[in-house]
Amino acid sequence: MKKVLVTGALGQIGSELTLKMREIYGADNIIATDIRKTDSDVALSGPFEILDVTDEKAMFNMAKKHEVDTIIHLAALLSATAEKKPLLAWHLNMGGLVNALESARELDCQLFTPSSIGAFGPTTPKDWTPQDIIQRPNTMYGVNKVSGELLCDYYHHKFGVDTRGLRFPGLISYVTPPGGGTTDYAVEIYYEAIKNKRYTSYIDKGTYMDMMYMPDAIAAIINLMEADASKLKHRNSFNVSAMSFDPEQIAAEIKRHIPEFVMNYEVDPVRQSIADSWPNTIDSTCAKEEWGFKAEYDLEKMTNDMLLKLRLKSLLVTA
Ligand code: SER
Repeated sequence: MKKVLVTGALGQIGSELTLKMREIYGADNIIATDIRKTDSDVALSGPFEILDVTDEKAMFNMAKKHEVDTIIHLAALLSATAEKKPLLAWHLNMGGLVNALESARELDCQLFTPSSIGAFGPTTPKDWTPQDIIQRPNTMYGVNKVSGELLCDYYHHKFGVDTRGLRFPGLISYVTPPGGGTTDYAVEIYYEAIKNKRYTSYIDKGTYMDMMYMPDAIAAIINLMEADASKLKHRNSFNVSAMSFDPEQIAAEIKRHIPEFVMNYEVDPVRQSIADSWPNTIDSTCAKEEWGFKAEYDLEKMTNDMLLKLRLKSLLVTA
């Protein structure tokens, strides 16, 4: 990666990945794009352009103009929003990815795009879900993710495009909140614990999902993109996970820091049924073996850091 185009750069992953890559590769070499512009660090700390990823010509011209060798395609709708607006999800998630793949093919770029635990479905084995296993998701988001994985494989085998991807679990961070995901509760709970010392979970007790702290996710993207291509047996979308917990376990961990913290439940049937269709835990062995994936943060270490960083953030806001 020498010069990189990032789509969806203002989103949950993009806003941290862009800044990290600017530190490593130089600010001018990371071209951040999104459908809108804000006064954020991402927009102010290096090149920033407005880009609608569903516009094929605009995507190609942007990549060409900046002479990038890598496209990190992050613009997409998350699972709960995709379930509410399935056709929009198909249009944006698949249309955007095909445009990114076509630009990568024509301009000979390396391409990263995230897949998800959402690429699995109710008939997938739930515990220690292996890398290669049945994928029959019953959500539009899952349909998009499986189709995306297949497209990335196709572009690799047919056209030689250097496609790489990760099946991300729920990503937790204190910088940019996610929007419209099923795993978002595990981010909201920290904000609410600091602000109101209580949280009402829309996901039920006993529902286990894989999760990862954002610094591990950012490191995983960069390490995978830098990995020796000859070592990658799986061309895209490696299982990666750092921890798996249910709402009661994260609440108990928060209570160790904030003893007054109270957790209530008001289960949202849509997001609960999405969560029920996903694995409890996925097995990251292939990612470890093929390119050395490792995660530094478990639930305890992540909770220490999240609460510390969110407290500092609220002090800065009120100062
Ligand atoms: N965090 C995502 C979601 O909940 C899963 O990939 O939609």
